[in-house]
Amino acid sequence: SGGGVILAIETSCDETSAAVVRGGKEVLSNLVSSQVETHRRFGGVVPEIASRKHVESITLMMEQAVAESGLSLKDVDAVAVTQGPGLVGSLLVGLAAAKALALALDVPLIGTHHIAGHIYANRLIGEMLYPAVALVVSGGHTELVVLEREGSFRIIGRTRDDAVGEAYDKVARALNFPYPGGPHIDRLAMEADDVNELPRAWLEPESYDFSFSGLKSAVLAEINKARMKGEPPMRPALARGFQESVIDVLVTKALRAAEEFGARQLLLCGGVAANRGLRGTLTAACEARGLPLLIPPLSLCTDNAAMIGAAAHLKWVRGEFTPLDAKADPLLSL
Ligand code: KG4
Ligand code: ZN
Repeated sequence: SGGGVILAIETSCDETSAAVVRGGKEVLSNLVSSQVETHRRFGGVVPEIASRKHVESITLMMEQAVAESGLSLKDVDAVAVTQGPGLVGSLLVGLAAAKALALALDVPLIGTHHIAGHIYANRLIGEMLYPAVALVVSGGHTELVVLEREGSFRIIGRTRDDAVGEAYDKVARALNFPYPGGPHIDRLAMEADDVNELPRAWLEPESYDFSFSGLKSAVLAEINKARMKGEPPMRPALARGFQESVIDVLVTKALRAAEEFGARQLLLCGGVAANRGLRGTLTAACEARGLPLLIPPLSLCTDNAAMIGAAAHLKWVRGEFTPLDAKADPLLSL
């Protein structure tokens, strides 16, 4: 099929990414330039530096995405870009580049929500069934979303404090791992021989919300306790206890939502979907219930432009375009 070639751009945080996606499903190219080395020495993303880095690489990323796709600019039917949420200075760079290209090519601009992108990364790997429940877990987000039908989103739960990835990164930092610490905690937890049991924050019985700051404080308290005794903290057992507590709450609430909303499919997405413990536990739980589960491969879980192209294609089909004077919205709602 020839139609619906979308050049997509994603610059909402610290990855500069450009992709070419055909028909919302076929990834022709998906390039990601990570700034993680630049930000590592600061222990987290520095917004001002992130936007400057985006400026340096966005043009080259767009050119390479087109070159690697095997198509040319005249084949592009629309330009899609993450309009929010995210760091405003970072979003602005992608949005300005997308507007300029859409204007030059005389094709529509399609502003896209970052979380819709994470969710529709699943379009790139399989057929989506509705109603669906999506568990979105990243450095900036922890959300349970119900999709009654294609393109409709209802957030039923979110974190009241730290995002999951953020909690992982903070705990990792306390255990002396470099940023981003999530993968280190994951590895250590898988290797651990014992578990330092930590509390679970279930919140109110009916609630689909999450809270991870209490758990994070519990880990920090354990570390301090060890220091007071002049002992090193039990890193593997703590990592395991933290990981088990996080996964228990995420998986339990996601499955309860799937049941309550009659989901025909569960979707896992966002950077923390890389977590081996989470993938394994959710896969086993869904298999036991006969509930179909989609989890994108790692390259489509972390921030990337192909997922933006997949989400934008649904708008392209409906002719939902974005005016060229549209603004970046760091708090854009889904
Ligand atoms: O989606 P993403 O690339 O960027 C955001 O939009 O936030 O997610 C990055 C987050 C970081 O907090 C990182 O520590 C976490 O995902 N992460 C992990 C793992 N791999 C990445 N957290 C736990 N276990 C992992 N294996
Ligand atoms: Zn993200």
